Amino acid sequence: MPAAAGPRRITLLGATGSIGRSTLDLVGREPERFRIESMVAGRDLAGLVAAARSFRPARAVLADPSLHGALKDALAGTGIEAAAGPNAVLEAAAAPADLVVAAIVGAAGLGPTLAAVHAGLPIALATKECLVAAGRLFMAAAARHKARVLPLDSEHNAIFQGFEAGNAAAVERIVLTASGGPFRTATVAEMARATPEQALKHPNYAMGSRITIDSATLLNKGLEVIEAHHLFGIPGDRIDVLVHPQQLVHGMVAYGDGSLVAGLAAPDMRTPIAHCLNWPDRGRAPTRRLDLGEIGTLTFEKPDLVRFPALGLAYRALAAGGGASAVLNAADEIAVAAFLDRRIGFLDIARLVEATLDRASAAGLFAEPADLDAVAMVDAQARRLADEILPHLAAKTG
Ligand SMILES: NC(=O)c1ccc[n+]([C@@H]2O[C@H](COP(=O)([O-])OP(=O)(O)OC[C@H]3O[C@@H](n4cnc5c(N)ncnc54)[C@H](OP(=O)(O)O)[C@@H]3O)[C@@H](O)[C@H]2O)c1
Repeated sequence: MPAAAGPRRITLLGATGSIGRSTLDLVGREPERFRIESMVAGRDLAGLVAAARSFRPARAVLADPSLHGALKDALAGTGIEAAAGPNAVLEAAAAPADLVVAAIVGAAGLGPTLAAVHAGLPIALATKECLVAAGRLFMAAAARHKARVLPLDSEHNAIFQGFEAGNAAAVERIVLTASGGPFRTATVAEMARATPEQALKHPNYAMGSRITIDSATLLNKGLEVIEAHHLFGIPGDRIDVLVHPQQLVHGMVAYGDGSLVAGLAAPDMRTPIAHCLNWPDRGRAPTRRLDLGEIGTLTFEKPDLVRFPALGLAYRALAAGGGASAVLNAADEIAVAAFLDRRIGFLDIARLVEATLDRASAAGLFAEPADLDAVAMVDAQARRLADEILPHLAAKTG
């Protein structure tokens, strides 16, 4: 990362979200070290305006072009440039900065994050969908444009730190931990009746709704397995998932000499965010310090792929390669939105993803996408397939 003379200039993609707010919390504590250069959000006008007025970036951008006038009016007289629309988002993402925190949710984050990669900017990557939907293209572009990708997801950040401590070539396996979500001990019958309110109760983290539902199905862990494969170049059959309800160990790296290097921290995203903001130095984060003597017991269990089939579907998509992971992600975005709308039940999320994977495979969508347009095409077709299957599941639920 280039050593800037003044504060590190941060571009924040997804400024109004959970990761965005945690990043702003850290930046606000150390204005002499960090400055927000650009902030980008989707359509939360009030949230972006409040953040912009408080952090005074050079520009504030919304993806929704219909909000341009309102954003301009709200920021009039502040000296902050107001812009809106997809092109404005891409321009902000590629504008000069010392670090881009990529935290837009969903496949919508791919284009802006890639724009930053093409500009050769260092990326702190929260938007795992970039790697799930287009991992090979994304990492190849990062290598070509010399854009450093720092893993911000807590599990990958812990593993990244474990890699740094050792020799990457000697790594045998990596392990991602999962809380197990709110239904870790639930029966299938209980999960069949689960409401969005119950599924949104993550035991350890307050996060955006999509990742929270994905944590309840364990699909989030599956997306993270795919993310880890692309970040660390480890094949899926050497990436393990362990359920660890306390979520204090986030990731582990197993070396050929039998060493297992584990990364521990309180479950607070400000720790991995602070690691990325300060890398390669170490900074500070106002998070709870772990007193293991006080905590006493850490427990681990193997994931139950019968009650949580979504995790197995992610391994299947990773093994299939090509466009399969983009299909997995697109189908899941449709399924989670339908569940939150109460159109399908909780168990239907995995059913919809599986049925979409089956249909997409038969339709030839698992071929390796040659470029980003091909990824967008797979994404759109997978959404169409999922939309077609959805009413059949909805009819059974209703
Ligand atoms: N939350 C966590 O603890 C956590 C941990 C690890 C990884 N992640 C990953 O980080 C990403 C963000 O998660 P989150 O929990 O922070 O999500 P979130 O709270 O739902 O926030 C999403 C952010 O993305 C913005 N956005 C949505 N669509 C957009 C678009 N088309 N263009 C520009 N911005 C758009 C939203 O803006 P509006 O508010 O204006 O819609 C919001 O700022 C996800 O990929 C997630 O998997 C999150």
